[in-house]
Amino acid sequence: MIITPRVRGFICLTSHPEGCEQNVVNQINYVKSKGAIDGPKKVLVIGASTGFGLASRITAAFGSNAATIGVYFEKPSAEGKPGSPGWYNTAAFEKHAQAAGLYAKSINGDAFSDEIKRKTLDLIKADLGQVDLVVYSLASPRRTNPKTGVTHNSVLKPIGQPFTNKTVDFHTGNVTEVSISPANDEDIANTVAVMGGEDWEMWMDALKAENLLAEGATTVAYSYIGPALTEPVYRKGTIGRAKDHLEATAFSIADKLKDLHGRAFVSVNKALVTQASSAIPVIPLYISLLYKVMKAKGIHEGTIEQIQRLYQERLYTGGEVPVDEKGRIRVDDWEMRDDVQAEVAALWEQATTENLQEIGDLAGYRTDFFHLFGFEVDGLDYEKDVNEVVEVPGLV
Ligand code: NAD
Ligand code: NA
Repeated sequence: MIITPRVRGFICLTSHPEGCEQNVVNQINYVKSKGAIDGPKKVLVIGASTGFGLASRITAAFGSNAATIGVYFEKPSAEGKPGSPGWYNTAAFEKHAQAAGLYAKSINGDAFSDEIKRKTLDLIKADLGQVDLVVYSLASPRRTNPKTGVTHNSVLKPIGQPFTNKTVDFHTGNVTEVSISPANDEDIANTVAVMGGEDWEMWMDALKAENLLAEGATTVAYSYIGPALTEPVYRKGTIGRAKDHLEATAFSIADKLKDLHGRAFVSVNKALVTQASSAIPVIPLYISLLYKVMKAKGIHEGTIEQIQRLYQERLYTGGEVPVDEKGRIRVDDWEMRDDVQAEVAALWEQATTENLQEIGDLAGYRTDFFHLFGFEVDGLDYEKDVNEVVEVPGLV
């Protein structure tokens, strides 16, 4: 079929298999161009199909020749119905990894459930014996806790008082004011239950209990901080409480890994266009200004550049892992540079519908958004008939 974008707000209902494959190939080529990393050998990535998790899987495989198992929740493709982008990304990744002689298998289902954990543990046991890196990169609006059966829905709200600020509809370029009413205690607890560290710790406990973690194993989960500008809706809002919990969980997991001489980290990453971040009010305007400033300074990175740097210059240098005063790895260091933030803050004050095209990188935001779904990728002919039914070679 000929597949075109069908956009509804901050999601796109269709995705393009060849565009997704090209994105994956571009990421593979980037990692190869940066040279070998003396990194992990057997890797589990939870949330492996898009965004930072996909980049983590690609970096492990093509930077360190690692065997990888990916867990994700994606819609398979069917006749006349394109799959979700993560489905096509995984199909492409596993095709290229297997062609390169690398072990690459995956499990599609709810990573929060006992069932998917069981399936994953069995696969590791059967095929890899143990893993030496576990990347935890889930972004989800809801989670059913397998112990209580309760389904929690996360919310993106400020805490204490309403928050009013500028936001942009990145499709139309309309800059408007948005007001978000504050969360109640239940909202906070629910958001922490979904995006906090409880599930990460459940995974690590389960892996450890069955002796599936290698001596010296590492685990890493991803967090975000961002500037004062977005604090009320991000770091000091409900999602920030969840990130506080995730960051605290790293210490709890690190304690449990002591006897294995293992390590547990949170890495604070840069703000980027992903399916998760497009849904947060205010953030798209911030990102479009940030992109403009970072590109002008020659320090813009995407997910693959971020994660390649995380492995090569933080996690696998052979020495001590550099962390901040709270024990976190920072690859948001360039985003948070004073000169970058001062320029973004000044542009924020000025930003209007009329000038955003010029003072912000709205075009770059939009292109990145369409890229997530395999559209607007250079060199592809979107008029061409493509086979929408694609198999994931390593799907278990
Ligand atoms: P993403 O939406 O691109 O990826 C989410 C992944 O989780 C996908 O592989 C998806 O299939 C998987 N997933 C979601 N629900 C699942 C479930 N129930 N079971 C199994 N898999 C499931 O998101 P992302 O932006 O890469 O986010 C990953 C992490 O990075 C999050 O913790 C996020 O907060 C963090 N982070 C994001 C940014 C950003 O700007 N995007 C910045 C810093 C940190
Ligand atoms: Na991810």
